[in-house]
Amino acid sequence: MNLKKEIEKLNTKKQELKNPELAEKQHKKGKLSAKERIDLLLDSNTFTELDAFVESRFSDFGMSQKKTSGDGVITGFGKIQNQQVYIYSQDFSKIGGSLGEMHSKKIVKIIELAQKTGCPVIGIIDSGGARIQEGISSLDGYAAIFKAMINGSGVIPQISIIVGPSAGGASYAPGLSDFVFMVDGIGQMYITGPEVIKSVTGEEISFNNLGGAATHCAKSGCSHFIFKNEQECFNSVKKLLSFLPQNNLEDPPTRKDFISEMLKTDNDKLIEIIPEQEEKGYEMKEIIYEIFDKNSFFETSANFATNVIVGFARLSGITVGIVANQTKLMAGTLDIDSSDKVARFVRFCDCFNIPLINLVDTPGYLPGSDQEHQGIIRHGAKVLYAYSEASVPKISLILRKAYGGAYIALASRLLGYDKVIAWPFAKIAVMGPKQAVKIIYRKEIIASDNPEELEKQKTQELTDKFLNPYQAAKLGQVDMIIDPKNTREILTKCLESLLNKRETRPPKKHGNMPL
Ligand code: HXC
Repeated sequence: MNLKKEIEKLNTKKQELKNPELAEKQHKKGKLSAKERIDLLLDSNTFTELDAFVESRFSDFGMSQKKTSGDGVITGFGKIQNQQVYIYSQDFSKIGGSLGEMHSKKIVKIIELAQKTGCPVIGIIDSGGARIQEGISSLDGYAAIFKAMINGSGVIPQISIIVGPSAGGASYAPGLSDFVFMVDGIGQMYITGPEVIKSVTGEEISFNNLGGAATHCAKSGCSHFIFKNEQECFNSVKKLLSFLPQNNLEDPPTRKDFISEMLKTDNDKLIEIIPEQEEKGYEMKEIIYEIFDKNSFFETSANFATNVIVGFARLSGITVGIVANQTKLMAGTLDIDSSDKVARFVRFCDCFNIPLINLVDTPGYLPGSDQEHQGIIRHGAKVLYAYSEASVPKISLILRKAYGGAYIALASRLLGYDKVIAWPFAKIAVMGPKQAVKIIYRKEIIASDNPEELEKQKTQELTDKFLNPYQAAKLGQVDMIIDPKNTREILTKCLESLLNKRETRPPKKHGNMPL
């Protein structure tokens, strides 16, 4: 055998696989090619491809070899910020990136390797869904991917990036991912496309309105991030990964260079952000920027259920997950969508050993028949369940209001918070004083000669007596009442004191979380 000739043959075959004219097809659609995407996301020269010579066993269905080589997906491994990741990138220029048997096997191999070696897995999705020509093999291919993803859930971070159609079965890989990134204009995710919808229901809707990035980031909540272009999107994936451990057995990375900042304590700006009038909202993100390490806040689901804020940040170099009420939107109440948003985020943090810090200022769960009928009890229960089950360090800071169910969910030691801290003007109560007076003094107020005056007087009495943090502190339910200017220092100290927390749960197959 002529060894050199064999090597030449290999190089020729590799060259043939490149197909620059197919990349051009992608560019014409305003998209990058599958390989260009990998190159932009990974550290340079770190990508190693697997299964480049895989082909569909169904090529005789009129699919040319040029278009089936690699079977419509590039898979392999490489590094992001020097951390190992596994990656697949679907190639729309080959059979519409549609998923057949071998395409699926390539992806499953990647997910299983990622799980076995404890590395994040990233899927770049640009696919017409189940490959029609391969029938049940395509559908089974999705089943295999979903099973692999579900096995890996809570073991390794799983990220989907949608930069093209993510049609039919393709939409459930993002659906099962921890975080979903979409690029506006090119990313579209739906179970059935506009044509099928029109023929079944008569409804006419565009691809973008149906399943574009803005729709999924703001309305459905199925996607967490929206970007103007692919480069911005990949930069943001890198930023997210910088907060995360490689797997569930590791702690998140700590930025040692931030530690010295801890010494900067007294911060009078915090108190200036809070309005004197207690009914008035304020920008909770300003509070976040003042407390956590400079420029470290990385918000997730920023456009969905905006009455709560969730995201990652660093506190004196330590990665934390933040849950905060956005007081200027719906008074920061918990409704069905924000409950889902919080519960899912809390569970992610718990999977990957990320301590949680709550910034609480809310009158409670959102009242109203609309919310009740849409299942606020079911959705609200997810928040209770997620926090109570989470065994990571959990710290709650009550800024202004923590009423009713929201106190229980976001700040009660008995639900499992390790440290509950209050600012001196925090109000903790079953409900607001005006509503409370109408219930407990109803008969007296009706019988009074001056009901208005009595109501006012009783409201003041209740406010003076109960609406302060000292009642809760007397019972040990608030551990500390602090001067707001010392918040960063105290939170850091509390967080550091909890980093070695270990908490066990009773043995069981799994709980029955309300879904
Ligand atoms: C086989 C497919 C395909 C598919 C696209 N192609 N989708 N081949 N199976 N599912 C092929 C096209 O035939 C075409 O081949 C090439 O990919 C590019 O597709 P175009 O239609 O020319 O591109 P474009 O105009 O950009 O439209 C993209 C698209 C459209 C909107 C995604 O292709 C489309 O509607 N595809 C079907 C989407 C869908 O309904 N998927 C659901 C499948 S069912 P040539 O040779 O011409 O280049 C499913 C089951 C699971 O996934 C359901 C679970 C809920």
